[in-house]
Amino acid sequence: MTSATSLFSPIEADLRLLTENLKQLVGARHPILYAAAEHLFGAGGKRLRPAIVLLLSRATMTTQEITVKHRRLAEITEMIHTASLVHDDVIDEAALRRGVPTVHSSFGNRIAVLAGDFLFAQSSWYLANLDNLAVVKLLSQVIMDLAEGEILQGLNRFDTSLSIEAYLEKSYYKTASLIANSSKAAGLLSGVSAEMADDLYHYGRHIGLAFQIVDDILDFTGSSDSLGKPAVSDLRSGNLTAPVLYALEEKPYLEALIEREFTQDEDLEQAISLVEASQGIKRSRELAAHHAQQAVQHLADVPSSESRQALIELADYVLSRIY
Ligand code: IPE
Ligand code: IPE
Ligand code: MG
Ligand code: MG
Repeated sequence: MTSATSLFSPIEADLRLLTENLKQLVGARHPILYAAAEHLFGAGGKRLRPAIVLLLSRATMTTQEITVKHRRLAEITEMIHTASLVHDDVIDEAALRRGVPTVHSSFGNRIAVLAGDFLFAQSSWYLANLDNLAVVKLLSQVIMDLAEGEILQGLNRFDTSLSIEAYLEKSYYKTASLIANSSKAAGLLSGVSAEMADDLYHYGRHIGLAFQIVDDILDFTGSSDSLGKPAVSDLRSGNLTAPVLYALEEKPYLEALIEREFTQDEDLEQAISLVEASQGIKRSRELAAHHAQQAVQHLADVPSSESRQALIELADYVLSRIY
């Protein structure tokens, strides 16, 4: 399996600087926020989103060094992502994240909601200070999309009539929007053409969808230890993801179990077995692979470089997490 570390070698020093900066940017204001920031940014996040921003920045600044604004955009991207996780864990009542207890389980729900708000607010402040209105528009749309994604997911719990298209739309809002818009923003900071900016957006969008589908497969196939967060949590809470939606087409009894919200003994275990006995996981892998391939096609016009190569391999890395 490709490791994220070898893939990120062109930007290893950039990522180290980013982690230090994030702790300082967030932590300076208050001891509790400092504790939350240490906790969040010191833990084992993969830093996939800032890595994409930095690699795209390098790939589009072929002859020049990347700027302070590119670096700040990568930091803002990780800050927005982390804020969304702090809130997501409150909503999901999840106890573990990045291999450590979640903010709400360490500091309580009130602090977690406020810490998430603070991270969103602070990312907006740094965003405004980039002094680039187009970039501000892209990333503030993301913050709206994240909330909309959580709302859509909440509304559709235990709804067995959910379509794959609606699932992908929700996944765009929750996950792909951030990667797509921050990818495009990196290009705008490099002064790329409108066509190239569009390609970068679509690269990020497809990587984001593939990444979320893989995360949803791993929720079935991974262990809490390897994931650093609780496993088999989506189905339990009624979030019907690709493996389940495909399994529903083959296993009518699964629908009954979900409709009664697993209220009887062994319902959940039975439902998991039905998903495992179906083509659901396999078809989800194919869907993820399709989006990873689409992502790579959008790099066709990016000039060759070590960073472009890493961005191509990143599509394989996303998929390799499930093999
Ligand atoms: C978790 O994202 C949320 C999803 C979109 C699946 P990551 O898996 O990138 O989380 P960290 O940043 O590495 O902890
Ligand atoms: C993505 O979805 C989370 C956010 C974008 C907030 P998940 O709900 O699948 O994330 P995990 O599995 O809790 O990391
Ligand atoms: Mg979650
Ligand atoms: Mg998940």
